[in-house]
Amino acid sequence: MTSGKIRQEGEPRIAVYPGSFDPATFGHLDIIRRAAKQFDKLIVAVLNNTSKNPLFTVEERVELLREVTKDLPNVEIDFFRDLLVRYMRSRGAQVSIRGIRSVTDFEYELQMASTNRQLDEGIETIFMMTNPKYSYLSSSMVKEIAKFNAPVQDLVPPAVESALRRKFGTSQG
Ligand code: PNS
Repeated sequence: MTSGKIRQEGEPRIAVYPGSFDPATFGHLDIIRRAAKQFDKLIVAVLNNTSKNPLFTVEERVELLREVTKDLPNVEIDFFRDLLVRYMRSRGAQVSIRGIRSVTDFEYELQMASTNRQLDEGIETIFMMTNPKYSYLSSSMVKEIAKFNAPVQDLVPPAVESALRRKFGTSQG
């Protein structure tokens, strides 16, 4: 367990928003925009997770996130393949951001936040409530809908919509 203070007085406030982002949705983007306003720097960190079976490669997910956040100067897109708390220490980040859509999310998120706290007491998790407009939205749903060639333009940014179409070899739904 680590417990050292990360941020000294006067140093930038850096947050990490970790996730799979397979792919990024309007729900993610809403959290990114709101979190970016609260910190000097927000690092959106894509987990390079070999145990899941992602639709998009890490490189593709990073590229898409860069495209959809290019108007946000204090947002950086990166990936990691380590424990989140270790990655955060390596980036000098003090806060992990997670979006909460529902009570069901909360149970899992609480477990994850408590685990991270056990691993490193210097790391804080801050939960942000997802915009109710997107409370039903998930990357899995988006993939399911796109697979069946139904429209997803209300759910994901145009760059992600095009990438989904290319992935599934579908036309405009
Ligand atoms: O978008 P997701 O899949 O809900 O994100 C989950 C993520 C990436 C935040 C979580 O799996 C994670 O932090 N993994 C890195 C490994 C780790 O630190 N595990 C210990 C905490 S559960």
